[in-house]
Amino acid sequence: MDSNTLVPELDVESTGELKYSRTIADLPGPKGQPLIGNLLQMGGRQLHLTLAKWIREFGPIFRVTALGNPLVIVSDRTAVNHLLRERPDGFRRVRNLKTVMGELKIGGVFTAESEDWRKQRKLVMGGLNVEVVRNFYPTMVFMTERMLQRWKTAVADGKPVNLRRDLKALALDIIVGIAMGHDIDAVNDDNNQLQRNIDNLFQRLGSRATALIDYWRYFKLPVDRAADKSATEVEQAVEEFIRNTRERMKQQAHLQQKPANMLEAMIVASEDPESDFTDQELISNAILSVIGGEDTTSNSIAWMINLLAENPAAAAALTAEVDAVLGDAPLAHDWEMMKQFPYIEAAHNETQRLRSVAPFIGLASNADCVVSETFIPKDTGIFVATTGEGLDEAQFPQNELFQPERWIFEQKPQRDDDPTRKIFPFGGGARLCPGRFLALTEIKVVVSMIMRNFELELDTKAPPVEQIMNFFVGPSAVPVRLKLRA
Ligand code: HEM
Repeated sequence: MDSNTLVPELDVESTGELKYSRTIADLPGPKGQPLIGNLLQMGGRQLHLTLAKWIREFGPIFRVTALGNPLVIVSDRTAVNHLLRERPDGFRRVRNLKTVMGELKIGGVFTAESEDWRKQRKLVMGGLNVEVVRNFYPTMVFMTERMLQRWKTAVADGKPVNLRRDLKALALDIIVGIAMGHDIDAVNDDNNQLQRNIDNLFQRLGSRATALIDYWRYFKLPVDRAADKSATEVEQAVEEFIRNTRERMKQQAHLQQKPANMLEAMIVASEDPESDFTDQELISNAILSVIGGEDTTSNSIAWMINLLAENPAAAAALTAEVDAVLGDAPLAHDWEMMKQFPYIEAAHNETQRLRSVAPFIGLASNADCVVSETFIPKDTGIFVATTGEGLDEAQFPQNELFQPERWIFEQKPQRDDDPTRKIFPFGGGARLCPGRFLALTEIKVVVSMIMRNFELELDTKAPPVEQIMNFFVGPSAVPVRLKLRA
């Protein structure tokens, strides 16, 4: 048996026994405290950094314990790949996450399992496929241009631009636009109620997902009551969007053939007599997409801007690519341009390697199995590091440096040397992120707009940028000034 073979229960029946050379107790790991183990070291907004430090110290597979329960952390690329691919049958998402998300009315495909997952996955994939993203593209460009105009005015008036805030608002406009078919213009309006509600949900999700004690199940603080209210209001808003969209689609029959956003595509799918998608599935997946698509994309762009500002040579190379593709245009109006940004794609890979926005995927084993020669009993928690081997000096020399060139090749590299097989920013297997095409399109449109129109000036006096985990990991700030290019 190869060293990373996973043998779920089905194979146990056919072979009779699992072959392994060690158990979880034999794995290395950080020293814990009596009874609680490593629990206190694992709470809070810096969990990802603690885990990254332990990966460097204890290697590609190690264990921690919390209140007597073992948790296995895996970053070896073959093992990660196999673990992700053995879903949904071999491994599920951790139940705690499903409960925490469910309490905030965030359901949908992310926390679904088995047949329910298969059904919802189909609905979501249909809503985020290339054709839908392409139909939505003019709206994405319109929203990005709106951002550009705001920045140009601010820079001309000598006013500061808060890039962290603005990138988040733009990502929210785009994801609400595609997932709910509604333009909230968060870029220009800080007081939109839907935006405030979504922010509330995110705040609670972030703090509950990393909380050591689930106090809110016993008593609710004002922030918890506010989050409950926000969850109900978001649900009601989406119900109304669905009603309005159905009405519009009745009047404009062409939308049935060419849905212009994810909500329309999901409505078309749900009206197919062969399907049995419910309105609740439409609502929960529209909400989930906003939660899954806002901070992931805006944090990725924010990290990339920080890294480009700190690395002028990479910024110059990226600007040269953008200028060559856009010519005189201020932004990428033409969909075909999306195929012409290999350097932006490389910069994105390098950004995810150094500053992953979703650094871990929490799984639990559905059956006894073997991972990297280690016996893993049924129901064991496993954290898969999406950074894979990205922080391994042997795999990525001069590891700490931001070098997009690492991802650019004259010829496709051999399988073992291919860096794209060493990290997993969008997960993998059948549950691979369904929003990655949308995210990459958005990243190209927004980053090319920024670099075509502005120079990045790093504010060297700003305090150091911290990596903050608020469900997803993002920078505490983007200390970069925009200067209009000549
Ligand atoms: C740079 C941006 C993004 C990153 C880094 C990212 C990352 C991830 C990761 C790591 C997963 C877990 C995959 C797995 O379990 O193997 C995931 C799942 C998911 N993402 Fe994304 N994501 C991004 C953007 C988006 C966007 C824009 C959307 C929505 C429109 C989205 C919707 C989802 C959904 C629905 C799932 C659950 C899939 C399932 O369980 O079948 N993501 N994403």
